[in-house]
Amino acid sequence: MKIFAIESSHDDTSFAILENNNPLWMKTITQTEIHKKYGGTIPELASRMHVKNILLLIEELKNLKIDNKEIFKEIDYIAYTKEPGLVGSLQVGYVIAQSMAQIYKKPILGLNHLEGHFYSAFIKKELEFPVLCLLISGGHSQLMHYSKKDEFEIIGETLDDAVGEVYDKIARKLNLGFPGGPVIDKIWQENRDLYTSHFSIPKTENEFDFSFSGIKTAVINLVNNLRQKNQEINVNKIATEFQNTVILYLQNTLKKAINKFNPSLIVLAGGVSANVGIRNMFLGLHKNVYLPEMQYTTDNAMMIARLAYEKVRK
Ligand code: KG4
Ligand code: ZN
Repeated sequence: MKIFAIESSHDDTSFAILENNNPLWMKTITQTEIHKKYGGTIPELASRMHVKNILLLIEELKNLKIDNKEIFKEIDYIAYTKEPGLVGSLQVGYVIAQSMAQIYKKPILGLNHLEGHFYSAFIKKELEFPVLCLLISGGHSQLMHYSKKDEFEIIGETLDDAVGEVYDKIARKLNLGFPGGPVIDKIWQENRDLYTSHFSIPKTENEFDFSFSGIKTAVINLVNNLRQKNQEINVNKIATEFQNTVILYLQNTLKKAINKFNPSLIVLAGGVSANVGIRNMFLGLHKNVYLPEMQYTTDNAMMIARLAYEKVRK
């Protein structure tokens, strides 16, 4: 079975082809460079860039052959990201997927982006239930519990900012550029032995919910105070201690959830799952840990194809 998938929910335009559980081809065009100068994604600009980028991907697709045959003769299903995401961006993917499905007379599947992130860890791999998944991205931070296939419950989520969003905001405050995650993670890797303290760990009523705005405010207040007093701002120290806090906070929450739900395996997914510190911490939590390959951590169409495969396979 061959699945063609489109992802366009945020600022990455991506096409992928999966044959059963084997990736055949993927191409992603990212808009990071364009949004960089604004310090975050501008939705209106993102939709316009998707239109431009999706046409570039269609050009590539036209020349693509599978086993020397036109790809759309070979495709069994077309999948696209239906929700959640930026409305204008999602619509670009939807229109193209619908047009292709109608022209080539293929069945179409509109899928959930967050479920796609979950399956990013199962590309080329099979899964067994129950599964506990920590999904951390620029827009979402949540703990998902899959008791069986197609049955998932969100047992905890952020009450305010998403983890990636906080990384981006703190990086902006420290003049480290956008996106903030990779830069702060690099600083952390170089300084973790030097700076081992952390900011205070937040508490929430539901022990599996998250709240990141307190950590964000603590860092921002610290920088403002130092600036006001004309004192030196040690960017490496603040960034490292911020990441120490995130790692410790996620670790504490996950330990509690693993105790309660006793999963067969645990999964880390979403753009922030590229974080080296968080990945290392995660590996020590359970004997069965699934991490997406780096190329499948940020938004991509292969994870949507993998999810589609799970939905339609017998
Ligand atoms: O899942 P994603 O590609 O986009 C959506 O939010 O849907 O995630 C992007 C987020 C950004 O906030 C970025 O700063 C963060 O993932 N990120 C990281 C790292 N790489 C990307 N955060 C922490 N450490 C990283 N190494
Ligand atoms: Zn995402």
